[in-house]
Amino acid sequence: MANTRTPLMAGNWKMNLDHHQATHLVQKLAWTLKDAKHDFSAVEVVVVPPFTDLRSVQTLVDADRLEVGYGAQDVSAHSKGAYTGEISATMLSKLGVSYAVVGHSERRQLHAEDDALVGAKVKAALGADIIPIICVGEGLEIRRAGDQVSYTLAQVDGAFDGISAEDAARSVIAYEPVWAIGTGEVATPDDAQEVCGAIRGRLAELYSAEVADAVRVLYGGSVKSSNVASIMAKHDVDGALVGGASLEAEEFAAIARYQSHQVGL
Ligand code: PGA
Repeated sequence: MANTRTPLMAGNWKMNLDHHQATHLVQKLAWTLKDAKHDFSAVEVVVVPPFTDLRSVQTLVDADRLEVGYGAQDVSAHSKGAYTGEISATMLSKLGVSYAVVGHSERRQLHAEDDALVGAKVKAALGADIIPIICVGEGLEIRRAGDQVSYTLAQVDGAFDGISAEDAARSVIAYEPVWAIGTGEVATPDDAQEVCGAIRGRLAELYSAEVADAVRVLYGGSVKSSNVASIMAKHDVDGALVGGASLEAEEFAAIARYQSHQVGL
């Protein structure tokens, strides 16, 4: 039976593009998609710029009534107070932010984020009505040992600890094998399906078949317009978290338009 999940293409800009460049890229992306008559209700398109760009992106999206959504790359686990450098979920929500990436592997590796902190950030985001895009995925050593499924599912368990079924159902998970991020080394469609399917299975165990069916599971790691369609053809892949290829309007628009590609269909 066909599922009812709306595919999501989210562009993680990482620490690239200032607020002027952000306005330019979002405008170009919106025009490119408009020219292609993109149906945003069929494939949702979201940009995830640095914090300092969000106000400019909000102003543009509101003024031009763009259908492109936007998210933040991180969120604080705390609600307010003496946390120098942190940004709260409420602050993001005031800027009309609808998504927040949580637990990206770069934050886990370079900023020592563990499953407990990731879980706290998931709660903080949901508490402000921001949908967390929860990143999970194994490194090369774990993949070589063949332990990618158990490793990734343990991260899923950590992220959803104490999260209600209702909140879980509106969350997004991004399976991003660390060895495929920014390396040009894309996982095969079967690699992506293996872990994305296992994640959905774990959600059914933790919650119910309904929750498992509702959650969108994205793939991330060197996604490009040339490989997206064959990955999206897999049953349990509901979209992509795109890094490098989201910095070019035409390339990211082509990724969002994967349904018109011939590959893998
Ligand atoms: P990449 O990054 O597409 O450049 O591999 C993906 C990500 O880190 O979200």
